[in-house]
Amino acid sequence: MGLIAAFTGFRLSANSLNNPSFLHGVASGDPTDTNVILWSRVTTNSQSNIKVLYEVAEDKNFVNIFLRGQKFTDKRSDFTVKIDAKIPKKYRGKKIFYRFRSGNSISETGSTMTLPQDRNSFKVAVFSCSNFPSGYFNVYRDAANDQSIDLGIHVGDYIYEYKQGEYATEDAVKLGRVPIPDKEITTLIDYRLRHSQYKTDKDLQKIHSSMPFICAWDDHEVTNDSWKDGAENHQKNEGLFSERRVNALKAYYEWMPVRTPRNKKNNWKRYKIGTLLDIKLLETRLSARTKQIDLLNFIDESGIFNKNKFLKSLNNEKRELLGSRQISFIEKSIESNDAWNLYAQQVLLGSLKLPLIPNEIIDRLPSFQQYLKLVIREDLPFNFDAWDGYPAERKRLLKAIGSKTQKNIFVAGDTHNCWVSNIKDEDSFRGVELGTPSVTSPGASENFAGLIPATDLEKAVVNKNKNLKWTNLSNRGYLTINFNPGFADAEFKGVNNIASKDYRSMILKKFKILPGKEII
Ligand SMILES: [Fe+2]
Repeated sequence: MGLIAAFTGFRLSANSLNNPSFLHGVASGDPTDTNVILWSRVTTNSQSNIKVLYEVAEDKNFVNIFLRGQKFTDKRSDFTVKIDAKIPKKYRGKKIFYRFRSGNSISETGSTMTLPQDRNSFKVAVFSCSNFPSGYFNVYRDAANDQSIDLGIHVGDYIYEYKQGEYATEDAVKLGRVPIPDKEITTLIDYRLRHSQYKTDKDLQKIHSSMPFICAWDDHEVTNDSWKDGAENHQKNEGLFSERRVNALKAYYEWMPVRTPRNKKNNWKRYKIGTLLDIKLLETRLSARTKQIDLLNFIDESGIFNKNKFLKSLNNEKRELLGSRQISFIEKSIESNDAWNLYAQQVLLGSLKLPLIPNEIIDRLPSFQQYLKLVIREDLPFNFDAWDGYPAERKRLLKAIGSKTQKNIFVAGDTHNCWVSNIKDEDSFRGVELGTPSVTSPGASENFAGLIPATDLEKAVVNKNKNLKWTNLSNRGYLTINFNPGFADAEFKGVNNIASKDYRSMILKKFKILPGKEII
């Protein structure tokens, strides 16, 4: 063995112990017109701090590097690295490339962009509900391959908190996607490990390395059906909810390519793409949300449902979802220029009722869905965790939006299915809502598998709800919206399966959205 080989051999064993590596890919996000967050994470056995270098270039071969620097990371931020990179004027609004180095390791190369201010078209892709154990992230791979997308928007349920054996983990063993750690996540270590597992997914890495993201959480980034002081899936024996929320948000801001606001809960933000598009990313969980209303509290000892009492509580003016500070942020952010306003948020804004589904079918659903019998019988909306549970706040939001502009589009996640609705304040049309399907979480057709054909259910749901114009209850997928000054093209894209990495994608439906025009 020559000297060099011996030296290399030594280096290799030292490498495996101490040399940091980039196993979680790279990501970018929270772009402004001048800056963009660049993210990565080093894996190391070291307990001390680690120096990480970053490079930003005009070309993917890094011949023309126009920005470089260094940052130290350590265990206090779980060895994640975030750079708020100020991009020189010449490269703003253009595709740029970035990578990280530490020790002998170089990360993957990512491409990203600050928000362009002079565009005549701009295309976003909207994602939600990416549950790792449910299936492969084919949806992310499909969108990553679409070079025409400028910006990814994740409206929440980026991770899920459950352990193996709980929600949507049936195929996890077979797919090699058992949740880590194998427990419901509650501590800071748990949340970090769960984020870390998600970011080892190659399809998730691929989408992050191919476009900047803006991100808002829904409930599962903390725990199911969270509201400002608690959650359905938080029990007393799991400690204080406020501590769990602090743990979840610390890990979230460490592991997501986004800027950390001064008050971590107040994650509402605004992004302007010149005078073409004005995105308002909203927060509907942790900053102000009142506890969800529970139908079962309105059933007396003799089993009678008190509908009047229920409606009175439901319509209580004090029930909040955004809170007054966020509503006034929205009010102030509406300009009477000609930009499209995109309200990116979590839960469905449009009201949604279920059609008549026979009790015998509901009997065969899991016990937590037995309440559907009651809402169908009483002709009530069926999801009180969505805006349907906060009618006074919905009115306040629509009043804040008002009629200053005719170019409003609302997007929502959470439901795992596709929806297109006209949003109205009384009879006044305020804009179109597009509900994006899930990346992997099971949708209605899985819930009703073998009981009702999905197409029959789709027809019946559209017939039941006069403002709902289209739904798809079968496909996992995503939504793209291409904004132009006079119109916006929305496209729902689906994948045919998530149980194999071999998949086909298809356009489920396209809509042309015109200012002030209802979808018919
Ligand atoms: Fe979800």
